[in-house]
Amino acid sequence: MTLLDGKKTAADIRAELAFRAAQIREKLGREAGLAVVLIGDDPASEVYVRNKERACAEVGIASHTYRLPAETSQEEAEALVCSLAKDGRVDGILVQLPLPGHLDEKALLRRIPAQKDVDGFSAENMGLLAKNEGGVAACTPRGVMELLHRYQIPISGKRAVVVGRSNIVGRPMALLLLNADATVTVCHSKTKDLKSICAQADILVAALGKPRFITADMVKEGAAVIDVGISRVDGKLVGDVDFEEVEKKASFITPVPGGVGPMTIAMLLLSVVEAAEKKL
Ligand code: GUN
Repeated sequence: MTLLDGKKTAADIRAELAFRAAQIREKLGREAGLAVVLIGDDPASEVYVRNKERACAEVGIASHTYRLPAETSQEEAEALVCSLAKDGRVDGILVQLPLPGHLDEKALLRRIPAQKDVDGFSAENMGLLAKNEGGVAACTPRGVMELLHRYQIPISGKRAVVVGRSNIVGRPMALLLLNADATVTVCHSKTKDLKSICAQADILVAALGKPRFITADMVKEGAAVIDVGISRVDGKLVGDVDFEEVEKKASFITPVPGGVGPMTIAMLLLSVVEAAEKKL
């Protein structure tokens, strides 16, 4: 069994990106820039945003964080995103989710132009992904693909099963695997015979947000198992996969923490660098 080390792989990627970021600085006369919009005081979002700022600094990307109070109006939030859309220092815009309940998330995200949509959440980028015509893919599924590639796990012709159909992970994950020529099945809360479908997977991606849901009887001998989930159970961080049991059957498995998580931020940095490189 090989452990898919997301922490180390993400560090390798950041080192590669530092080189590309230096070239951007030299050729554009400014750093690649990421604007992060954080509205309200969700503690988990605060931690994510600080991690993003730290990762940007390490690579040589300028991060511009806009912290707005929870009472911010829809108009104020949209005005900020519109000004960032025009801001020449900003190559990527990220509106940290979740937003306070009174804000219209869809309307706000629509203000981000596709070229600056480094989250890959826009209809244009999702559409390009669905048509296999490029576009920016969401960071977490992109991070999963990067792990599979860097560990030389074959995808073409393999049976891939994605558990979860969220817009942020499950759907784009299924599309990326399909674009890489896997035979893809997406399972969700209404799926019948989930166990037997998962047990056919050469590549099993768990992204449903239920701690230790994927048990050893749902995993084929020799499968690559990718765990996107992260929950706190009795003070310990656990994924959607019952790691202790499943690692005995899998040939590749991601740990939680230290698997997919660090890859997500590395892919955000990659999307910002790629957006800036288009201006060279
Ligand atoms: N909140 C949790 N994950 C994400 C993400 O990937 N992007 C944004 N914008 N917000 C998030």
